[in-house]
Amino acid sequence: MEIIEDIAKMQAKAEELIIEKATRGFVPTMGALHEGHLSLARRSVEENGVTIMSVFVNPAQFMPGEDYDSYPRTWDEDLHLAEEVGVDIVFHPTAGQMYPPRRQTTVQVHELTKNLCGMSRGLGHFIGVTTVVAKLLNIVRPTTAYFGQKDAQQALVIQRMVIDLNFPVKISVCPIVREDDGLALSSRNRNIPADLRPRALALREGLSLGREMIRNRVYDAQSLFNAMCVHILRDDAIELDYLHIVSPETLDDVDKVDDIVLIAGAIKIGGVRLIDNILVGPGGPWED
Ligand code: PAJ
Repeated sequence: MEIIEDIAKMQAKAEELIIEKATRGFVPTMGALHEGHLSLARRSVEENGVTIMSVFVNPAQFMPGEDYDSYPRTWDEDLHLAEEVGVDIVFHPTAGQMYPPRRQTTVQVHELTKNLCGMSRGLGHFIGVTTVVAKLLNIVRPTTAYFGQKDAQQALVIQRMVIDLNFPVKISVCPIVREDDGLALSSRNRNIPADLRPRALALREGLSLGREMIRNRVYDAQSLFNAMCVHILRDDAIELDYLHIVSPETLDDVDKVDDIVLIAGAIKIGGVRLIDNILVGPGGPWED
């Protein structure tokens, strides 16, 4: 496995791979790798001649007061895991290289970033995400880039960006990987205090309750929202950041479940912010 830390070297390597006509799968990450990241990497390895993974904790997508400094960094273990699943190249730039002092350009997807995480973290979060992903796509020049449904809004925003800006890349969205008890894997799970870990399931349970209610033909969004909130907030260790029932295409809130909806939420537990979501409609699916 090759490690490339320099942007110009990564661009030269991309050029070489293009001349060789290799299919190039790309898995952008912020490291602290877990099975969620690895599921994307495995899929890329299966589907492409060459797989490139980036490991870059992107300062631009952390808002003031968020967890940039305490975000887990496990570089040695990341390299080991990436190699084990068959990643060919790890791209690991420095923040100084990615964000030189005289920069003045960002990329913003407007409507899709207004709700959910865009509302709770601020518009700057997704500007940070789309700007870094646009830069990474220009540096790595993949044929396919892999994203997780765990960050459903992010995946949708990136899909919109590559269509709107004509990036010649296919975006592949992969299913949420969970712990045995159902908690969505996240790098941030490492920061949940051990005594609170079982209670981190509250959001997942709330979402499952919403799905069960829809199965029992409760379609009114307000009733679903109320019941899910009551469940999640039963535990006083949990702060509810947001919970929305939205159209999976526009991310606008819906009043009624008459088609597939995305139910997406974020909680804070022990100072750690966790997100999760579920796709469900009047005809299911009833499990994931
Ligand atoms: P990060 O949180 O490291 O996630 C990297 C990719 O792994 C994202 O596409 C995310 O959706 C996916 N992922 C994380 N947990 C997952 C899980 N449990 N199941 C399936 N996929 C999962 O998302 C980012 O980094 C950054 O915003 C990034 C896109 C790299 C830009 O900085």
